[in-house]
Amino acid sequence: MAQQVRGVVARSKGAPVTIETIVIPDPGPGEAVVQVQACGVCHTDLHYREGGINDEFPFLLGHEAAGVVESVGTGVTNVQPGDFVILNWRAVCGTCRSCLKGKPHLCFSTFNATQKMTLTDGTVLSPALGIGAFVEKTLVAAGQCTKVDPNVPAATAGLLGCGVMAGIGAAINTGNVGRGDSVAVFGCGGVGDAAIAGALLAGATTIVAVDIDDRKLEWAKGFGATHTCNSAKVDPVEFIRSVTGGNGADVCIDAIGHPTVYKQAFEARDLAGTVVLVGVPRPDMTLELPFIEVFGRGGSLKSSWYGDCLPSRDFPMLVQLHQQGRLPLDKFVSETISLDAVEEAFHKMERGEVLRSVVVL
Ligand SMILES: NC(=O)c1ccc[n+]([C@@H]2O[C@H](COP(=O)([O-])OP(=O)(O)OC[C@H]3O[C@@H](n4cnc5c(N)ncnc54)[C@H](O)[C@@H]3O)[C@@H](O)[C@H]2O)c1
Ligand SMILES: [Zn+2]
Ligand SMILES: [Zn+2]
Repeated sequence: MAQQVRGVVARSKGAPVTIETIVIPDPGPGEAVVQVQACGVCHTDLHYREGGINDEFPFLLGHEAAGVVESVGTGVTNVQPGDFVILNWRAVCGTCRSCLKGKPHLCFSTFNATQKMTLTDGTVLSPALGIGAFVEKTLVAAGQCTKVDPNVPAATAGLLGCGVMAGIGAAINTGNVGRGDSVAVFGCGGVGDAAIAGALLAGATTIVAVDIDDRKLEWAKGFGATHTCNSAKVDPVEFIRSVTGGNGADVCIDAIGHPTVYKQAFEARDLAGTVVLVGVPRPDMTLELPFIEVFGRGGSLKSSWYGDCLPSRDFPMLVQLHQQGRLPLDKFVSETISLDAVEEAFHKMERGEVLRSVVVL
C-alpha cells in the first residue's frame, strides 16, 4: 500500500522550500523503496529551487543520500530489503550505444523509477536528479541503489551519492590526474574540495585551491591544497603560473560552472593540459574563447558528468579508502540537520558557512 511520509518540496521558482506530505507508491517492477537515513544539501538542489535546471516544479529536493532498502519490486536482483545503499543518479542501462561500447560510466540512457511520487492531492513531483531524498522514504529504480559496507555512517557515505563523487571523479576519472601532476581547482565547496582530495589520492604534487572566500581556502588545505589563491584579490591565472614554474597547471578543474571562472581555468592550464568542467552552468550562460588559443594550447576541454563515475566500481572503492583513513569523507560534513532546516542550509551555503549540511533522518 502507498505510504505517506514527510519531504522537502520546492513549489515555485525562488520560493522557500516547504515540508509536505509525500505519497510513496509500493515499488513496481525494477523499483525499490529506500528508507533515507541521510541526505546532503548540494548546490544542485539550490539550482533546482531557483529554476536553474528546468521548470518542472514542484520538485522533491535532495539527491545525495544513503539509506536502507525497505522493499523491492519484482525482478530486482541487485539489492534486497535491509541492504545499506548509496543512491546514484545515473543508473546504467547496459544496452545504450555507450554501454555497448564498454563505457557504462558514460551511459546515454540512465533511468529512474517509472512510477511517480506525488503530493496528497495527486500532484506529480519531479524528484531532483531522479532521486528526491529530503524525505523519509523514496522510490527509485533499483539500479540507483549501490550496496556498500554498512559500517560507515550514512551521513558520510551519502556524500558519495553526488558532490563528493563528482569532485573526486572530476580529478581521477575525467581529469585523469597522475603522480606528480599539478592541479588547480576553482571553487572550494563540497565538489571542489572533493576534487582536491581526489587529486591528492591520485598523487598530484602541486594542488592550488582557488576561491573568493578565505574561509573556504583554509578548509581546502585540510583536503590537500598545497597553495591557495583568493581570486577576488589576486589574479588566479598569474598565481597558478607562478607556482608551476611559469607554465600553468596540468589539470584545471572548474567546480563552479561560470564562464569567467572557466576562462581562468582555460588560461591557467599548461600546454596540452586538461580543463575539466564539473560545476553546472545556468542555461542562459554562454562562453567565448579565443579560438586560436583552443587550438594552440592543445590538450583537452572535458565535462564531467557525475565525475564520470561508475557507482558499482567507485562507491565501494571510495568507502574502503575512507575506512583505511586515506579519504577524509567525514570532514565534508559541516553539520547534521533535520528536514525542516533545508531552507536555512541553503542560506548557510550561500553565505559560505558550510561545506555540507547533511539532513539526518
Ligand atoms: N557535474 C556534476 O555531476 C555535479 C555534481 C554535483 C554538483 N555539481 C555542481 O558543482 C558546483 C559546486 O557545487 P558545491 O555543492 O560544491 O557548491 P558550493 O556552493 O558549496 O561551492 C561553490 C564554491 O565556489 C566559490 N565561488 C563562487 N564564485 C566564485 C568565483 N567567481 N571564483 C572562485 N570561487 C567562487 C564559493 O565561495 C564556494 O566555495 C555547482 O554548480 C553544482 O551544481 C556538479
Ligand atoms: Zn547505457
Ligand atoms: Zn548534487
